[in-house]
Amino acid sequence: MAGFNIFILCAALATIAQGSNCPSGPAEVDTFSGGFDYTYDWPIHYQPLDTQRQSLCQAYMDVSSSEDNRDQKVVMMLHGKNFCSQTWNATAKVMLDQGYRVILPDQIGFCKSDKPDHYQFSLHHLALNTKTILDNLGIKRLTLIGHSMGGMLSARFALMYPEMVDRLVMVDPIGLEDWKAKGVPYLPVDDIYRQEVASNYTSVSSYENATYYVNHWEPEYDVWVKMLLKVYDGPLGKAYAYNQALVTDMVYTQPIVYELRLLGDIPNSLLIVGDKDNTAIGKQWSPPDVQALLGHYDVLGPEAAKTIGSNCTLIHYPDLGHAPQISAPEIFHKNLTDWLNRTD
Ligand SMILES: *[C@@H]1O[C@H](CO)[C@@H](O)[C@H](O)[C@H]1NC(C)=O
Ligand SMILES: *[C@@H]1O[C@H](CO)[C@@H](O)[C@H](O)[C@H]1NC(C)=O
Ligand SMILES: *[C@@H]1O[C@H](CO)[C@@H](O)[C@H](O)[C@H]1NC(C)=O
Ligand SMILES: *[C@@H]1O[C@H](CO)[C@@H](O)[C@H](O)[C@H]1NC(C)=O
Ligand SMILES: *[C@@H]1O[C@H](CO)[C@@H](O)[C@H](O)[C@H]1NC(C)=O
Repeated sequence: MAGFNIFILCAALATIAQGSNCPSGPAEVDTFSGGFDYTYDWPIHYQPLDTQRQSLCQAYMDVSSSEDNRDQKVVMMLHGKNFCSQTWNATAKVMLDQGYRVILPDQIGFCKSDKPDHYQFSLHHLALNTKTILDNLGIKRLTLIGHSMGGMLSARFALMYPEMVDRLVMVDPIGLEDWKAKGVPYLPVDDIYRQEVASNYTSVSSYENATYYVNHWEPEYDVWVKMLLKVYDGPLGKAYAYNQALVTDMVYTQPIVYELRLLGDIPNSLLIVGDKDNTAIGKQWSPPDVQALLGHYDVLGPEAAKTIGSNCTLIHYPDLGHAPQISAPEIFHKNLTDWLNRTD
């Protein structure tokens, strides 16, 4: 056992990047997995961040099918709250085939990134952290795709750095309504934490069944539930659960809906929703009359597209829920690539 520990220590020391505590080099990052022992489809890189009086490491993948990626078109994809960057793997493969360089970050608090004991989570700060990755890679302009919380974060990113966003694709973004203004009571972070830390296969899969997949479960959905449980059940599971509670507080308190019209200046935006999506933060802890008002994506999607204006295209799927890229990948990828090629 002692020998094993010494080996880990040496391996960790050998991989410290200059000036940071983050591992560098694809072979060694396994020693720092963010408490998440899970193999992604591509090598992980770490961006050191000096943020909020601590040194953190943000994980990302940077994938290209070309030796020289300098002049390649770039797409960055942002994951949702119950996901990791790896969840975008099927879409990333489609984008590689389309000739893109693909950037896939794990946000701070998630998956293979650091899970700080304390962090002031804001969509603004997550957008800033993510921009730091792009700045260090010398990427100035890109197509941005985000799903769920990642869709909300993509909107925030586009509002903060409009000059970088050529095209914005939001897939079932959350924040298309202000839940608290519709009556969702405030739930203290500590209470959300208690729910988060009790997550198990049944609680996660039944939630995803009802919101993502319209109560129709396919065996291949299991992979994403099991992935998530590896973080909850891993050595940093409690830190992850606490970070997730802070993240829930972040999305509840920082609505994007009032700023949607400011996205009208993005030259091309695409909003993709499943009409049967019913995701709404705090629905579980709201009274029935409030619950009835929340998460009607068949209404929220067209409203949001209209507010953004004529630069926004809406694609909606009458029979799908919160994750069309997972429940109907062929159609989703066809519609996405057709739209991207149209706006090239
Ligand atoms: C994506 O990754 C998951 C495991 O994380 C794997 O089960 C699935 O087959 C992968 N999909 C593609 C299209 O490579
Ligand atoms: C899973 O979590 C739910 C909700 O927290 C709980 O009611 C249930 O007993 C748990 N199931 C198992 C098998 O632990
Ligand atoms: C999904 O919902 C359907 C319909 O309620 C149910 O039969 C099925 O067992 C659920 N599957 C999971 C994994 O929760
Ligand atoms: C669409 O985007 C272009 C480029 O940013 C902008 O000039 C134009 O005003 C936008 N159109 C609308 C209707 O907002
Ligand atoms: C999406 O793709 C499907 C399958 O090719 C096609 O039938 C449908 O018309 C497309 N929808 C849009 C809005 O382009």
